[in-house]
Amino acid sequence: MTPAQPLGLPAPLDGSIPQESTIGAEHRAFSLYVHVPFCSIRCGYCDFNTYAVDDFGNGVGLDSYAQDAIAELDFSARVLRDNGAPARKLHTVFFGGGTPTKLPARDLVRILQHAIDLFGLEDNAEVTTEANPDSVTAEDLQVLADGGFTRVSFGMQSAVPEVLEVLDRTHTPANVPKVVQWAKDAGLQVSVDLIYGTPGETLEQWVQSIKSAISYRPDHISAYSLIVEDGTKLAVQIKRGQYELPDDDLMADMYTEAEKLLSSAGYRWYEVSNFSTSPQTQSTHNYAYWKNQDWWGIGPGAHSHINGTRWWNVKHPVAYSGRIRNNQSPAAAREILEPSTRDFENIMLMLRTVEGVSTSYLQEIHGEALEPKLQWLVLQELIDSTELANGRVVLTFKGRLLGDAVTRELLPETE
Ligand SMILES: C[S@@+](CC[C@H](N)C(=O)[O-])C[C@H]1O[C@@H](n2cnc3c(N)ncnc32)[C@H](O)[C@@H]1O
Ligand code: SF4
Repeated sequence: MTPAQPLGLPAPLDGSIPQESTIGAEHRAFSLYVHVPFCSIRCGYCDFNTYAVDDFGNGVGLDSYAQDAIAELDFSARVLRDNGAPARKLHTVFFGGGTPTKLPARDLVRILQHAIDLFGLEDNAEVTTEANPDSVTAEDLQVLADGGFTRVSFGMQSAVPEVLEVLDRTHTPANVPKVVQWAKDAGLQVSVDLIYGTPGETLEQWVQSIKSAISYRPDHISAYSLIVEDGTKLAVQIKRGQYELPDDDLMADMYTEAEKLLSSAGYRWYEVSNFSTSPQTQSTHNYAYWKNQDWWGIGPGAHSHINGTRWWNVKHPVAYSGRIRNNQSPAAAREILEPSTRDFENIMLMLRTVEGVSTSYLQEIHGEALEPKLQWLVLQELIDSTELANGRVVLTFKGRLLGDAVTRELLPETE
């Protein structure tokens, strides 16, 4: 089961994008996302576009994936050139999933090298792949590092077997320190993802997971609250009463413990759910999304965004291959974002970051109504008064816990 896609406008089969979208492109970063829709099993909480199938028949599957991804890369370069986009080197590259490391490491490198041949790569660009702790060997990680990858992000989720079981995770916690060390030995930067708020998880278990993650000394740790997506196995289990979700107080306590432990171990927040050892180890690719830069998404169900034109590919690997092998755009539909929608998204995403949002930008949107809003937020200790004096709205720790209230206050009015 994968989530429904948004409705949108028809997307042209030749992939063309409005010429306006390429205006000023030289001033925007251009990133690449490659979606790899294969997993060994489907975790009960996950609604990403991924399949526990290696071979769909019709010559579509793991074995053919790299060739199709390369064909879409060629397609993307042609569309951008024919629609007036200037040549831009890739700012960041991110392979996500699914489980990209279900593909042989040499296939991941082949796709990456083809992208670099087509577009070039900025100096010191971040090139990441996601990985499951049980889907890589030390040799794979060395092949990735030698082939141009700079960073790997492991889905650890928890260090506690009972919690991993509720999440349907297949890996054993002991695998995580092993793969983190292999990745470091290969010269890769390392991130680990944790999830808190799994049904039945206690505060003590969560603390154990954070402490374990810290003890492996990755460069970056993400701590996501579990989102129960409609249509997932977990959502059904909760509806049936098999599991109960934690209450808001426990969730707040879990985030508070994460902040306490991570900051005292040298990990500083730079986005509500993301912590790094230094500005150099923040995820540049994430920032490209949060700042609404341009990116092309390769693969089934991948989303792309070029200056206000957003489109998403057909989700099923067979439908995707059919399009790409017929030299047609794999886009299912697209939307052209209104300026007000872009403001809405900019504020929502950037408010979650340590950079925050500039008061001059907010002033253009709210006019005279801004000042009383800001005063109220400072009084409630939801935004930082020192940052405000420097012209930026940045969440305090309390603001991070109550981020939705701050966002509601600062979003543009909608009719
Ligand atoms: C799409 S997964 C890909 C990485 C890899 N397949 C894995 O799971 O280890 C990326 C991350 O998204 C997070 N994630 C996925 N579904 C989530 C959910 N429903 N709630 C919170 N985080 C989720 C997990 O932390 C996961 O590591
Ligand atoms: S391994 Fe990752 S992408 Fe695959 S189903 Fe589990 S959470 Fe989703």
